[in-house]
Amino acid sequence: MNHAALTAGFARGVRIAGTGSAVPDGILTNDDLARMVDTSDEWIQQRTGIKERRICDKPREGTLTLSRLAVQRALEDAGLDGSSLDLVIVASVTGEMACPSLACRIAGEIGATPAGAFDVVAACSGFVYAMNLADSLIRVGRANRIAIVGCDCMSSIIDYDDRSVSILFGDAAGSAILEADDDPTKGSIYQTMEADGSGWQALYIPRRENEIAPGDEENPIRLGCLRMNGREVYKFAVTRFQRAIKDGLEKSGLAPDEVGAYICHQSNARIIESAVEKLGLPSEKVFVNIDKFGNSSAGSVGLCLDQMRKSGRIDESKPTMLVAFGGGMTWASSVWRH
Ligand code: UT7
Repeated sequence: MNHAALTAGFARGVRIAGTGSAVPDGILTNDDLARMVDTSDEWIQQRTGIKERRICDKPREGTLTLSRLAVQRALEDAGLDGSSLDLVIVASVTGEMACPSLACRIAGEIGATPAGAFDVVAACSGFVYAMNLADSLIRVGRANRIAIVGCDCMSSIIDYDDRSVSILFGDAAGSAILEADDDPTKGSIYQTMEADGSGWQALYIPRRENEIAPGDEENPIRLGCLRMNGREVYKFAVTRFQRAIKDGLEKSGLAPDEVGAYICHQSNARIIESAVEKLGLPSEKVFVNIDKFGNSSAGSVGLCLDQMRKSGRIDESKPTMLVAFGGGMTWASSVWRH
């Protein structure tokens, strides 16, 4: 692999200065859900690998509080102050208000004024989209230090009478502080950000009657709640996820075991297991925490990154592969050299 060739044209690279994450204390177990809808611990574990998920205590906790905590922890980990940031990017589909953005409120609260601040909406791919964007802005010299946050408080958009979604999702936030490095071969040496909007109705949050997708009129959709065609998303995800990993390996000239860690969006343990099996990935390098946290949408990749870093599970002598897919439909990947 030629790292220099992949990053030719860039005068500088990017490093992860710190990471942080936050999850609520509240736990919703499969047995709790089985008391609410027609499901069982056995069914959920078999189909998804999930045992429990974290749920915000509303209105005390939510996307804003989790995001702020995650970024504060990332700054602390980096030994930095909010005022040293040039930009704050937050990825979420569960922001409290459309305006102001979550990023503006968080930047204001951590003293990052007058850093730029904006939100990214790419559902579960949001953290990887934000990371790729931040990497590019730093590489070209438009910013020196950027805080990225992926956070979703999915419990705020779940209809707990709908077992097709209630069993899957949880709440979490993950954050990273990215900063300029003199070595251009550090940071994202290969990345993708892609989407296919023609499949949007497989996963969406209708706010008004006229936003309900054709064919969904007969379903009991609660406005403002997540609507998911699980089977459609599953088919899309299995294919796209594997293609994204294969593409990342091929384009950066890596064999599966030349990657130090795989940080995958925690959508469903079966989707990750299928990629491990089909692509021959070393399973000990593929982190899975979905059993404890469920699918936390934009929160999941950042949460994994932080948990892996803090527990010494990232072999920094080798590149890390980050990969996610989600509503839109969107998908994104990054091969990150430390
Ligand atoms: O983060 C990105 C977004 N989301 C995803 O990645 C999710 C992708 N999809 C999935 O993970 C899976 O499709 C689910 C876990 C959501 C569902 O698993 P599945 O194996 O695709 O189930 P299914 O929808 O095909 O349903 C199979 C059976 C059906 O019964 P019949 O028709 O075979 O009698 C369902 O009615 O299981 C039934 N079922 C349930 N039973 C107990 C569906 N949901 C449940 C449930 N508990 N919660």
